[in-house]
Amino acid sequence: MITIAVTAEGPDEPRVAVSPETVKKLVALGAAVKVQSGAGLRSRFSDEMLKAQGAEIVDGAAAAINGADILLKVRRPSPEELAALKPGALVAAMIEPFNDRPGLESAAGRGATLFSMEFMPRITRAQSMDVLSSQANLAGYKAVVDGASMFGQALPMMMTAAGTVPAAKIFIMGVGVAGLQAIATARRLGGIVSATDVRPATKEQVQSLGAKFVAVEDDEFKQAQTAAGYAKPMSPEYQAKQAELVANHIKIQDIVITTALIPGRPAPRLITKAMVESMKPGSVIVDLAAERGGNCELTVPGQTVDVGGVTIAGPINLAGTVAVNASSLYAKNLLAFLEVLIDKKEKALKIDWDDDIVKGTLVAKDGKIVHPNLTGN
Ligand code: NAI
Repeated sequence: MITIAVTAEGPDEPRVAVSPETVKKLVALGAAVKVQSGAGLRSRFSDEMLKAQGAEIVDGAAAAINGADILLKVRRPSPEELAALKPGALVAAMIEPFNDRPGLESAAGRGATLFSMEFMPRITRAQSMDVLSSQANLAGYKAVVDGASMFGQALPMMMTAAGTVPAAKIFIMGVGVAGLQAIATARRLGGIVSATDVRPATKEQVQSLGAKFVAVEDDEFKQAQTAAGYAKPMSPEYQAKQAELVANHIKIQDIVITTALIPGRPAPRLITKAMVESMKPGSVIVDLAAERGGNCELTVPGQTVDVGGVTIAGPINLAGTVAVNASSLYAKNLLAFLEVLIDKKEKALKIDWDDDIVKGTLVAKDGKIVHPNLTGN
């Protein structure tokens, strides 16, 4: 029988790697699921709810990990957790492979087989395992809701006997998974929505959601998408043209949500200090790229600051602020991934090391870091 361990996350991480629904499905796959008592509480999954679906609730992380074949986590496991694992046990988590390289080396050195869920290839077969999408979608939604709350004015146009309340203007910068959900949410709340991106494919997506597309559509724009579907870093010339366009547009916006990212690089700077100063007092910027340095020059990661009456929020882990949903989706992503690693008939681990999903996410094995993105091979 396969034993799966789930332990509590650190104080800054409200999410958990399992839900009552996935416990039930993992048990049906023939696994024993050991969950550290209290691990699901901040996602409102009580021990009783998890137990009712077949989980064994144990006291402390060590008791959950002892003898486990697989450890499921949201974040990279602690050194103590890794030390408690049996040699060769599997770990699936968002291990932030580009952060804290010495920590990653020592995690690999413990001998666990580490899978980084962020490296999930963006192929059709792996869509149900795509943690970046499941979490970015919720973050895009929450950024608009939080931005609306900080704005302190109504969003939809309201024509009343006492007069008309104008609709708020909402500008979304970066139209990936988070940006698309931000547009949809801002539209539902009644805002006048515009959006920008450097990838041409986004134009139609923006328009089909009922928002206005604003971008510098030159020859460079036509080639800005990589084969993997991501944006390329843009030339200084393009950036200058883009800055001019944004400077004119941003002055009249009430809420700006920024989500622009380029894989493996710091977030592109799209909003300068001068642009912030041109905005009306009471306007709000929610910078979802804060963790990667921010799209706005004045963003302070993890803080909300006031610059001349403009509120600039640099939230970290927005998905974690809707932990019930974020954990449910993340746990489903992990379940779909485990289904690739488990032979349903034999009810045993059966890993095809040549499978694109396995190869794409495998970061460390037999004590060494093996992923080409991390070894330079
Ligand atoms: P991301 O989080 O890497 O970037 C967010 C957005 O920022 C992107 O749309 C990007 O083009 C934009 N951006 C980058 N530099 C910019 C700049 N200077 N100015 C304005 N915008 C800029 O992207 P995410 O959300 O991970 O999605 C990337 C693509 O992958 C999308 O096309 C998405 O639809 C696709 N995708 C495909 C999946 C699949 O086939 N399984 C699953 C998920 C996403």
